[in-house]
Order: sequence, then structure tokens, then C-alpha cells
Amino acid sequence: MTRLGQMRLGLSMRYHGYHLAGWRHPDVPAAGTLDYRYFLDTAQMAERAKFDMVFLADGIGMRVRDEPEGSLCRSAQTIDLEPLTLLSAIAANTHHIGLVATASTTYNEPFHVARKYASLDHISGGRAGWNIVTSWSDEEARNFGREKHLDYETRYERAAEFVQVVTGLWDSFEDGALVRDKETGLYFDPAKLHVLNHRGKHFSVRGPLSSGPTPQGRPILVQAGAAEQGQAIAGAYADVVYSMAFDLVSAQKYYASVKEKAARHGRSPDAVKVLPGFTPYVGRTEAEARAKYDEMRRLIHPKVGLAVLYNYLGDLSDYPIDGPVPEPDGNVRIRSIGKGLFEMSQRDKMSIRSLYEFMMAGNGGRVLVDTPGQIADDMQVWFEAGGADGFNICPSHLPGGLQDFVELVVPELQRRGLFRTEYEGFTLRENLGLTPYVNRHQTLASSSQAAE
Ligand SMILES: Cc1cc2nc3c(=O)[nH]c(=O)nc-3n(C[C@H](O)[C@H](O)[C@H](O)COP(=O)(O)O)c2cc1C
Repeated sequence: MTRLGQMRLGLSMRYHGYHLAGWRHPDVPAAGTLDYRYFLDTAQMAERAKFDMVFLADGIGMRVRDEPEGSLCRSAQTIDLEPLTLLSAIAANTHHIGLVATASTTYNEPFHVARKYASLDHISGGRAGWNIVTSWSDEEARNFGREKHLDYETRYERAAEFVQVVTGLWDSFEDGALVRDKETGLYFDPAKLHVLNHRGKHFSVRGPLSSGPTPQGRPILVQAGAAEQGQAIAGAYADVVYSMAFDLVSAQKYYASVKEKAARHGRSPDAVKVLPGFTPYVGRTEAEARAKYDEMRRLIHPKVGLAVLYNYLGDLSDYPIDGPVPEPDGNVRIRSIGKGLFEMSQRDKMSIRSLYEFMMAGNGGRVLVDTPGQIADDMQVWFEAGGADGFNICPSHLPGGLQDFVELVVPELQRRGLFRTEYEGFTLRENLGLTPYVNRHQTLASSSQAAE
């Protein structure tokens, strides 16, 4: 199967980059992650390369533990800026690129989320997106009056109702509601205002939302994750799904599953764009790409490396770091993954050090170490064979890892006609090639008018 059209590109710009030692790279400003200009420069670089959007993942608090002891204070992936605040600053200094921030449905109220993202949509001129997550750690729970994270069923039930309320609130004002007629003194048309009056199991929200209709009709909805319940939300609502796949067959399977879930909700398969993430190490030659990968590898402090293995293999501090990986016992936290890692280390003759180096290269995600042509080939195959509508690029370090990608890979994609050379529209919705959003009350009104 071959498809036509162009792929979508997102940039995941978390911390100093995806590699856990990214902050130690000689070209990376270590203080950058608390300086909005660091992210602004990065977002502007992505905008010059015509990326669809920047994406900010988030956890609400420090989710990393000091395991083994002395590792936490060596991790730079602990300190960051709140995503919506950061994107508001970036919005004022960019013009086309979409701005997607993560917010948790477990530790927020829907009215807050609806209002903040509607505001970002106004501030950015229609470029806001909400990445819907349910959060996953007890560390986050403890910042919100709970000892334990909500159980799976409850948090996804809450998430489904949460999204229903937020999207309901975003429809409070129909397009054209704000007449602001100085002559007559009429500020808005009362017939185009709708009060939500939601009463459900988790939320009671009257509304309306005081943000007026937003430039995109409503912000873009993004869903990140692979689990069944998350996919159900994606099928019903998501415009974009940020996914993780390590090979084409599993990417195709996931892609087909998301599209099928969208179809079950009466949505076109094109209405939801699936973007798997990967970390590129790009060199003009294979040797140069490998050298870039190795340079990052050498920057890993062993304690941080051992922390990466801790959940799966336990505390390996007392084992020789260049010796074999020991078999995980019954006390490790995530035994299934531990067993897989142990087996891989046996098969590929990996030491403890080489195992954590492998895992840190893309922070657990897919990694490509190659020339621009080979990386473009890989992306083209996934795109044309129904594994992806585009990709979320997760550079090893910022801005250098992104710079390599935009200078070397993007022109190759453009040469092949696989990626745009100019933005098609002004809003994120337009650039993603999605149909205009129609407020649910307008749909009802226009269909009843048509029936008259
Ligand atoms: C590509 C990707 C990105 C994610 N980004 C975030 C994030 O920014 N914040 C977060 O709390 N969870 C994030 N998650 C976690 C998911 O939302 C979800 O909790 C996880 O996949 C586990 O699934 P489950 O909640 O169904 O157990 C991400 C997951 C994936 C696969």
C-alpha cells in the first residue's frame, strides 16, 4: 500500500532533550530549562523548519526517586517550567507553530483546563493543543492530598467525564456570538450562549466558560499513550495521538486500532493523526552519526545509569558495571520488563553499562542512528505503509539534536515531497489538515434550520 500526501512533524522539547545526560553535552546550556528563551529559540528553529507543533510532556512534581542513593541529585530531568505558562511566552514570539501542553485529568478541575487552553488559543491566534493524560505516579498523588495514585478504572472513568466537560465548556459560545455593538450596547448575542449544566459522577459544572469562542473553534486534542482506555478517549476525541512503537508491524497494528476506534465514533480515519516518537542521531555519514551517539553515551554518570535500570532489575550498585546483567528476582518493581531486558542482555552480550546506555539513548523510546537519507527512508516506509501519519521528534539534546534534524533530514523529506515547504494555514487545525470545528450547538441549529 502506498499513500500520497505529506507527513506531520511534532517536536517534543522536554528538558535539555531526551537523552538523560543531554544537559552535560558541551553545546547545551545547563541552565536553559528554567529560561524560556532556551525553549523559544528551539521552537523558533522548529517553526523555521515548518514543524506542525511543539509538544510539552509533563509530570506534576518530581517523579524520579533517589534509587540508588545519590542518583536523583545527578538527574536533570527533575526541574522544569510549567508547560502552559511556558507556551504562553512562546506564543507571543512565534506565528505558525502549534503549541501543545500536557495537563492531567487526575490532578486538575475541568473548568481550569478548559479556561487555560481556551486562553492559549486566543493568545496564540489558534495554535493551542491539550495533551490529555491521567498521570501515573504516587509521587504526583502526594502533591494533591493522596498517598496513592487513583486506581486504573477510576482515573480513566474520571478522564472520560473530564474530557466531556472540557469540550462541553469550549462550546459555551457559538461562533459569531460576540457582537460587541457599541451603537446598540449589545455585547454578545444571548441566543449563542449555552450553559453546560453538567452533573455527573465526578464533576458538577454549571458553566458557561467565560472565554468566548476561540480561534480554532476549540483547541486541538492530543492523547499520549498506548493503553486500551487511553485509546478509547483517542477514538472519541483526539485529533492527534502521540504513540510509541519500536517496529513497523507494531506501529501498523496500533495505527489501525486507533483509526478503527475513531470510525466506531463515526469519525473519518483522517480526523486523527497518529505520530510515533523517535530520537534521531543524524550524521552526514554513518560514522559521524555513530560518533554523535557515542559522545552522548560517554556523558552518562553511572549512578544515573543504574537508576534507569532500578525499576526493572533492582539495585545493581554492588555488581561490576562492565560485568553481565544479573537475572531479576521476585522483588523488582516491573518484572515483566526486567525479564525482557535480562534476556536481551544475554542474547546481545550486554554489560550493565551497555544496557543502560542503550536505554538512555532515547529515554526508553525508539532511536535511529543514521544518515539523513536512511532516516528519511525509514520515515517514508512507516508513513507509506500505514504505520504513521507523521512523527514526534524527540531530540537527544537541545537545540543541537534538533538542529541536525532540521538541517539534514527535513530538506531530504521536502525534496521527496513528503513534508511541506510552507505552512498551509494559520491555525494548528488548518496546518494539520483537519476540517474546521463546528460547535455542537451550531450543528443542531443549522440542521434544524435545514429541516424548516
Ligand atoms: C508517547 C507517550 C507520551 C506520554 N506523555 C505523558 C506525559 O507527558 N505525562 C504523563 O503523565 N504521562 C504521559 N504518558 C503516559 C500515558 O498517558 C499513560 O499513563 C501510560 O501510557 C500508561 O498507560 P495507562 O495509564 O493506561 O496505564 C505518555 C505515554 C506515551 C506512550
